[in-house]
Amino acid sequence: MKKIAVYTSGGDSPGMNACVRAVVRTGIYHDLDVYSIKYGYDGIINGNITKMESHSVSNILQRGGTILKSARSNEFRTKEGRKKAYDQLSKHGIDGLVAIGGDGTFTGAKVFYEEFGIPVVGCPGTIDNDIYGTDYTIGFDTAVNTALEAIDKIRDTAAAHDRVFFVEVMGRDSGYIAVECAIGGGAEVVMVPETITTSKQVSDYLKNLRESKTSSIVVVAEGDEEGDAATIMAKVKSEFVGEEEKKFKVTTLGHIQRGGSPTAKDRLLGSRSGLAAVEGLLNGKFNCMAGIINDQVVYTPFEDCINKSKPLNKDYLRLQEILSI
Ligand code: F6P
Repeated sequence: MKKIAVYTSGGDSPGMNACVRAVVRTGIYHDLDVYSIKYGYDGIINGNITKMESHSVSNILQRGGTILKSARSNEFRTKEGRKKAYDQLSKHGIDGLVAIGGDGTFTGAKVFYEEFGIPVVGCPGTIDNDIYGTDYTIGFDTAVNTALEAIDKIRDTAAAHDRVFFVEVMGRDSGYIAVECAIGGGAEVVMVPETITTSKQVSDYLKNLRESKTSSIVVVAEGDEEGDAATIMAKVKSEFVGEEEKKFKVTTLGHIQRGGSPTAKDRLLGSRSGLAAVEGLLNGKFNCMAGIINDQVVYTPFEDCINKSKPLNKDYLRLQEILSI
């Protein structure tokens, strides 16, 4: 292997730049030519490919977002699109890829490897922390801390006015962000897609808390089966009357959770995973993701990363419940 390329794809996450930097510098350390591809799979198809030097990744470690841009590509979902991508890589003589992203990114990488034999190693880049094969994903820790800072502020105003706030955090299919924010932010209730909590249960619970608490926080993962935070809040509110009904407010934190300077943990994880991906390529570990489990690098086949789910730690839910009374 002589020439490798790195790209970021899907939703950006803080720490992706640390990962890009690690891929570029590890590649150079091992005497490889390293290229970057902008805009993910669309960038491969369009030949948005640039040679990188060590200085190309200077001063990006601490920055959120991704200097390589990101996109969700429809064209790459087609065989014709992937053929165009293969032709572009052949033109540049690129014989290995590092894909930084989530399960959508790895699904594309797996199909591409199977069809055209281009070796790919992935790095887990998503704030959702929902990838099998790694304890944490790059960006999760930063997203939780960002959301937590917001929840602390909401707590202040909730307490001042004796209000109940429903706070929606990201997590399309998983409640990792919600649960960690709920524990760290001392939320009274957490609603996640992994467990069923009805609006009626929430209103009953909040009624029971009346004697002991004057304000409450309900953290809702965006993928919760009861709906989004506004919908759930409306249902819960309908169980209250008079002055109590006026206490309910909703805040959706949204994309603020995807930005910002990565925490030390995310810089470390991005750096470790980037190095492991390049060394994986050099050691013949293809079609897999370089994750970290119990502080050790583990290469997990894309097949498993995509198809196996990472269950939420039920101890966390229990902890949140006990501490919210
Ligand atoms: O997968 C990461 C994530 O931030 C999810 O939590 C969220 O549902 C989704 O991306 C939002 O995607 P987009 O930025 O395309 O709206």
